[in-house]
Amino acid sequence: MTGAPAGRPGSLVVRGLHYTYPDGQPALSGVDLAVAPGERVALLGRNGAGKTTLALHLNGILAPDRGTVTVGGLVADPADRAGLAELRRRVGIVFQDPDDQLFMPTVAEDVAFGPANLGLRGVALRERVDAALAAVGMAEHRDRAPHHLSFGQKRRVAVAGVLAMRPQLLVLDEPSSNLDPAARRELAGIVAGLPVTVLMVTHDLPYAYQLCPRSVIMDAGRIVADGRTGRLLADLELLARHRLELPFGFAPPPARAAGGVPSRAAGAGADHGSWA
Ligand SMILES: Nc1ncnc2c1ncn2[C@@H]1O[C@H](COP(=O)(O)OP(=O)(O)O)[C@@H](O)[C@H]1O
Ligand SMILES: [Mg+2]
Repeated sequence: MTGAPAGRPGSLVVRGLHYTYPDGQPALSGVDLAVAPGERVALLGRNGAGKTTLALHLNGILAPDRGTVTVGGLVADPADRAGLAELRRRVGIVFQDPDDQLFMPTVAEDVAFGPANLGLRGVALRERVDAALAAVGMAEHRDRAPHHLSFGQKRRVAVAGVLAMRPQLLVLDEPSSNLDPAARRELAGIVAGLPVTVLMVTHDLPYAYQLCPRSVIMDAGRIVADGRTGRLLADLELLARHRLELPFGFAPPPARAAGGVPSRAAGAGADHGSWA
């Protein structure tokens, strides 16, 4: 595991995290994870593994039964309202369904909502919104109604709304779901260009390989594997054990792949999908 000094901006340290939903359903059973500033890490795992529950702990939407979350040296503490507000500024979560995130009449107002809450006004606010919309290629749609946008455009606006908060850690929950291939590729370009730490929840294994040099696999509320993405995805037994599968036609990455570096080498011939 990468050493992540807990105090550096953009670092994430999760220790011994346990959480059971109020209805008695256990979801996290001792999660330990350290992410260094600037890393992009994929969080893989079958449905119900606990990925979204973990994500919801990272900015204090859920409070753990036991264990700690530390972001850039700030320990999440549900009893500390100021600390929680700062945590939410540091950690931006893009939810799986953009309709859960977009609620203002126009795209620009939606992206402005977070930074306006931080107290930004006037030119400073406008610049913040413009920069976030430009980063996701949505500047020309600023005056449109979010509910008139395509799904891929909505997801980009949701990303812009989070970027406008200038987070240290960006958490993306299933970012490629429901995107057509072009929108999926464009979002990859956006994410790859961001100067933040990224934790990407996904079961889109090629997307993890494309974007994240490192992956962790979660199952039954625990991290069960942690390593170079290429190495984990080449271990078909490991994947099968945790109910993860490469899409039809995709060969595993070459066994000695460093991971994260797109490769058109062995196994990506005419009958196979490409990892690039
Ligand atoms: N609001 C909820 N109330 C009760 N149980 C939940 C709730 N949300 C998720 N769960 C349960 O918690 C476990 C982890 O779910 P989740 O974190 O959503 O997994 P993943 O995102 O990996 O698919 C599952 O057993 C799921 O059924
Ligand atoms: Mg989920």
